Amino acid sequence: MQQDYKQLQSMLSDNPGPIGVFDSGYGGLTILEKIRETLPQYDYIYLGDNARTPYGTRSFEVVYEYTRQAVNKLFEMGCHLVILACNTASAKALRSIQMNDLPLIDANRRVLGVIRPTVESVGSLTESRHVGILATIGTIKSESYLLEVQKLFPDVTVVGESCPMWVPLVENNEATSDGAGYFIEKNISNILEKDPAIDTLILGCTHYPLLIPKIARYVPKGIKVIAQGDYVAQSLKEYLYRHPEMDAKCTRNGQCLYYTTESTEKFQESASVFLKSAIEARHVTIE
Ligand code: DGL
Repeated sequence: MQQDYKQLQSMLSDNPGPIGVFDSGYGGLTILEKIRETLPQYDYIYLGDNARTPYGTRSFEVVYEYTRQAVNKLFEMGCHLVILACNTASAKALRSIQMNDLPLIDANRRVLGVIRPTVESVGSLTESRHVGILATIGTIKSESYLLEVQKLFPDVTVVGESCPMWVPLVENNEATSDGAGYFIEKNISNILEKDPAIDTLILGCTHYPLLIPKIARYVPKGIKVIAQGDYVAQSLKEYLYRHPEMDAKCTRNGQCLYYTTESTEKFQESASVFLKSAIEARHVTIE
């Protein structure tokens, strides 16, 4: 689908701006937190499409369309670099945005995902060479993890398990409830039945680190549970070091603005629980 980007182009500024961090909802906050710990000097805009979450059960076309709209909004807000802090968007929309949209909007802007930096860590994490991926239906169906791991570490066996209830539990502030335990236990035992040799479970959805206290209860000792935040943050640091032209386009006042497509009150309340500090959110419409 060829887009007419003339109007967007006329709104874009060449001035340096914040780094954009996008997710379908709250999950990307787990990535943002680690990025800000590693790179506190930069400015950030977080955009959560809470009004249309979850993305994990949606078709390729819909995830691409929603993600494209969010990225364009972040460009409009002054970002030159956008991180898709969402595996579903990284799996289903990243490549199309990079190939089809960026050349038409501004060939100097960049959009990066979270799957590649996570997969790069896999080789050094697993000893048994058997890895499990817990993710949304969309991410598992895309086989993005499997394909990336096969490319980088052909000796590693990958098994996936989709956990469609986990994102709604987080989005509805049910991460610590007994009901959450039921679904988490079920998906963990499913994946370990598929491959009992797994010694590393990758949380391939940015919402899932918010469930770690529950997940830890059902994972047998000796199996590592890996959240992506640190790997994504380290990879971004290296990216900015390797690309001084992009680094120069990123402002540095240590500030972060939060935008949501849903109610700001709800976002503030839930985000404050996840971030363990109060934040102020603004509403944004994306289309
Ligand atoms: N947090 C996202 C991910 O990493 C998306 C979850 C969803 O919206 O279903 O996949």
